[in-house]
Amino acid sequence: MKKIDNYIARSETDYNRLYSSSLANPEFFWNQIAETFLWKKKWTKTLEYDFNKPEFKWFLNGKLNITENCLDRHLLNDPEKTAILFEPNDPYQESEKISYKELHKRVCVFANVLKNKNIKKGDRVCIYMPMVPELTVAVLACARIGAVHSVVFAGFSSTALAARINDAECKALLTADGSFRGSKIIDLKSIVDQALLECQSIESTIVFKRIGSDVTMNNNETWWHDEINGVSDYCEAEEMDSEDMLFILYTSGSTGKPKGMVHSCGGYMVYSTYTFLNVFQYHPSDIYWCTADIGWITGHSYIVYGPLLAGATSVMFEGVPSYPDYSRFWNIVEKHKITHFYTAPTAIRALAKHPVSLVDDNNLSSLKVLGTVGEPINEEAWNWYDKNIGKSKCPIVDTWWQTETGGIMLSSLAGVTDDKPTYATKPMIGIQPVLLDNNGKEISEFDKEGILAIKYPWPSMARTIYGNHQRYKNVYFAAYPGYYFPGDGALTDSKGNYRITGRVDDVVIVSGHNLGTAPIEDAINLHENVVESAVVGYPHDIKGNALRAFVILLDEKASINMDKEIKEQISKTIGPIAKPDIIQIVPGLPKTRSGKIMRRILRKIASGEKENFGDISTLLNPEVVKQILNES
Ligand code: WT7
Repeated sequence: MKKIDNYIARSETDYNRLYSSSLANPEFFWNQIAETFLWKKKWTKTLEYDFNKPEFKWFLNGKLNITENCLDRHLLNDPEKTAILFEPNDPYQESEKISYKELHKRVCVFANVLKNKNIKKGDRVCIYMPMVPELTVAVLACARIGAVHSVVFAGFSSTALAARINDAECKALLTADGSFRGSKIIDLKSIVDQALLECQSIESTIVFKRIGSDVTMNNNETWWHDEINGVSDYCEAEEMDSEDMLFILYTSGSTGKPKGMVHSCGGYMVYSTYTFLNVFQYHPSDIYWCTADIGWITGHSYIVYGPLLAGATSVMFEGVPSYPDYSRFWNIVEKHKITHFYTAPTAIRALAKHPVSLVDDNNLSSLKVLGTVGEPINEEAWNWYDKNIGKSKCPIVDTWWQTETGGIMLSSLAGVTDDKPTYATKPMIGIQPVLLDNNGKEISEFDKEGILAIKYPWPSMARTIYGNHQRYKNVYFAAYPGYYFPGDGALTDSKGNYRITGRVDDVVIVSGHNLGTAPIEDAINLHENVVESAVVGYPHDIKGNALRAFVILLDEKASINMDKEIKEQISKTIGPIAKPDIIQIVPGLPKTRSGKIMRRILRKIASGEKENFGDISTLLNPEVVKQILNES
C-alpha cells in the first residue's frame, strides 16, 4: 500500500505539480489518494456525476469502515500514541490523554451498547453532548456499526433540537446531564426533556454523567456508565458502501428550516484526511488543537475525522476562551506544547481586545502553524494573530469551506504556499473554483468581485439534503447550471489568490456561526405582539457581523419589555447565538410592490448609512425609510 505522504505537497513546486495533475486527470489522481486507505473491498469506478440531476458518487462499490481507518489501522504502528488530549473546562481538573488503543476500546464498547439498544446500520442517532471525549466516542461508535450520526451543537434550544431529531427521525439520543461552559453550568438534560415531548421517533436515550446534578430519568432513559458496564470491547466494524451515509449535519439556510447535509463514507474519509495533512502540514510528533465545537463541521472534519484518520494527536477543549480569564487559550498552548492552533476570527478579535500581557505571560514557542476558519478575517486581526501569537514566524492558513463541502476548499498550505492577509489564497489540490458574473459567465480579470462557484466534483461534497433532494438542487445547483454554488462572493488578485468578500444571500455569519435571517424572523414572528419583522446583518468589531432586527408591533404601547421578550423567544426557538444585538421597533418595513422586504435598504441603515439608498421610488412605501432612520 502506498503512503499518503507521497502525495502531500512539501514545496510550492509540489503543490503546482499535484494541482496540475489533479486537474489533468481527476479520477486517476483521487484513485491514488484513495488507495492509501484501508478498504474492505476496492471500488470499481472512481467517479460518476451529473450536475443536472444532481448526483455525485465517488469510489463506487468500494467497501470500508471509516473507524478502521481512524483507529484499527494505527494500532499496528503506535497503539500508545495519544489520539485525544482532553482539556477540561476547569483548569484545575486534570487533563486526560487517550491513546489510540484506549479510544479503540471505548468506541468498540459503546458500539456494542448501541447494538444492544437495537440500533442498526442506517438508523439515525442524535448526539447532543458537551465537548468531552465521550462525544468523540459516541460519533465513532455510530460509524463503527453504520448508524448515521446527527450531532446537534449543545448550545441549541429544545425547539431546535426537537426539529432536528424529527427531521431525521432519529431512533436514539445520546446526551449528558449537563455541561460546563466557563463559570456556567448548562442543564442539558432538562432541555432534552423539553425537546423529547415533541419527538416520537426516539426509542432510547443514553445520558453521560458530566456535572453530577439531580436529573429525572424517564422511561427508556439510562446512564452511560451503567450501559458500558461489563460490555465487550470487541466489535467488528460494519461493512459500509463508499456512498452509504456517514452523518447528517444541520446548517441554516437563508429560508425555511435547517438543511440536514448528508455526507457519505468513502469520499469524506479521503478528502478530510488529504486536506488535513496538506493544509496543516502535520508531522507525527505534533500536537494539534482546533478550538471549534464538534457540533459544527469544523469539529467533525478537523477535530475528529481528519486528525484521527491521519493518526494525529487532537486536542479537545471543553471550555471557553474567557474562563477563568482571557489567557486560557495561551495557558493551554503552553501547557500542552501545542504546535498547531486553529480557531475563528471572532475569537481572535475578542482576544485582541485584552492586554497583550495575557498572551506574553505564556511560552508559545511550540507553535508552528496557525489557522482560521468560519468567516473572513480582517487585516487588523490577522496582524495581531501573526505578531502576538505566531511571533511573525508561523504561517497562517485562512481556510474557506462550508458544512456542505465537508473539507477545506481554499487555503494556503502552511509554510508551503504563501499566505496573504485577508485572502484564503489557493484552491486545494483537486478543487476547481471559478468566479461568475450575474449572468453566470466566468470572470477572468483579477480584482473583480464575482460569485464563487466550483466546477468539478470533489470527494467530500454533501450528497443531498436529508429528505429533500429537490431543495439540494434548488439551493446549490439551480442558479448556475453546471456548477456548485456556495453562496459566497469572492475576487482574485493577479496571482490567482482568492479573497472571500462575504455572503451573497440572506445568511449572516455571526461570530463564525452561519445564521439564516429567515428562521430568526420566524422566531420573532411567533411572539403574539409581533406583526412582521426583518433581520439583517451589519459589520461588528468583534463578531464580524451582528444582527439587527426591525420589528413591527401590533400594539406599540405594549413595547416596554419587547426587547427582552423577543430575545427570549429567539433563545427558546433557536438558541442564544441567534439573538440580535439591536431590536428596533418600526412603523413599517420597506417593501417592493410585490411585497418583498427590501433587505438591501435595511442592511444599509443597520451599517449606519444615512442616505444613498439608491432608487427607492419603486418601493410601495418609500416614506417608511425616513421614519426608520429618524427613530434609529
Ligand atoms: C460559510 C460556511 C467551514 C466551517 C465553518 C463554517 C463562511 C467559512 C471562511 C473563510 C471567509 C468563510 C462562508 C461560508 N466562511 N470560512 N476562511 N473566509 N468566509 O461553516 O457554518 O457551513 O458556514 O462560512 O460564508 O459559506 P458553515
